[in-house]
Amino acid sequence: MSSHHSPIVLSSEITPRSMFEGRRAFLRDAGFALALAGVGGAALRPGDAHAKAFEGARKSPFSVNEPATPFKDVTTYNNFYEFGTGKDDPAERAHTLKPRPWTLSVEGECAKPKRWDLDELLKLAAVEERIYRMRCVEGWSMVIPWNGYPLAELLKRAEPNARAKYVEFTTLADPAQMPGIRTAVLDWPYVEGLRIDEAMHPLTLLTLGLYGDLLPNQNGAPVRVVVPWKYGFKSAKSIVRIRFTEQEPRTAWNKAIPREYGFYSNVNPAVDHPRWSQARERRIGEFGKRATLPFNGYGEQVAGLYTGMDLRKFF
Ligand code: MTE
Repeated sequence: MSSHHSPIVLSSEITPRSMFEGRRAFLRDAGFALALAGVGGAALRPGDAHAKAFEGARKSPFSVNEPATPFKDVTTYNNFYEFGTGKDDPAERAHTLKPRPWTLSVEGECAKPKRWDLDELLKLAAVEERIYRMRCVEGWSMVIPWNGYPLAELLKRAEPNARAKYVEFTTLADPAQMPGIRTAVLDWPYVEGLRIDEAMHPLTLLTLGLYGDLLPNQNGAPVRVVVPWKYGFKSAKSIVRIRFTEQEPRTAWNKAIPREYGFYSNVNPAVDHPRWSQARERRIGEFGKRATLPFNGYGEQVAGLYTGMDLRKFF
């Protein structure tokens, strides 16, 4: 892990990296589709390995004004247990994940269930750049320039019905692509969930890229959720299914260790993890520690979702 200070890096200044075998070919293939789709006015040219999918993405007013964590750290210090439990396992092993073709089905308590393919998702709404503060439950944090659009854009098209109180997210679980799922560290597939008002909140991002390009496999290609006011494990990677449910979804970490990982898992410096304090965090690339903010600093936007709730009980 690096310990250098990191200036804000504009997506136009980043040197793209072809990180894995096959990424070049993948980008070339994706390039045709994206160029045809005209994604975000992207200047992706077929055959150009240095073109980036979301080059011209609109900068969101929801972005934080803090230095972004370097691309190298964002893409080499990861949690993605489907590829192993070490922080460097995902970057080393996720090349076996095939992010295309990919379908994401939206189903459950709704009038219009649908299976979306990746090109449809890329075209569905304008892809923005959202620079979010991310806080892992383990005590480290990053600032990541994501590319995506509000999950609500996708959800509302399904026309959820009155029984749709929660939204469940399911990650791919294919042992042929994901070596880590031969180990029973979690009850696969990885499942996460949100209350429907949390899922519909404008900060909740359907995420297709980072740093101006398509998501690297280790960050949850080709499509994941990002919920910046909750601990990172709520932001499920490489999702294949979104389901509207009436009951609170049984989530992977909650099933594994219920007294440590609650359904809500809002970032809360006042509520300790049973085995460690959550009051402070180590921002990757910085020396020392900084104070963790309630709701990871997004309280102004989201605290109202929890009015009247005891956040110690609903941790
Ligand atoms: N999603 C899946 N499917 N599997 C995982 O192991 N880890 C979570 C979350 N989403 C995880 C996952 C955790 S603990 C964190 S902190 C974030 O992904 C890390 O996301 P990043 O590697 O893109 O920073």
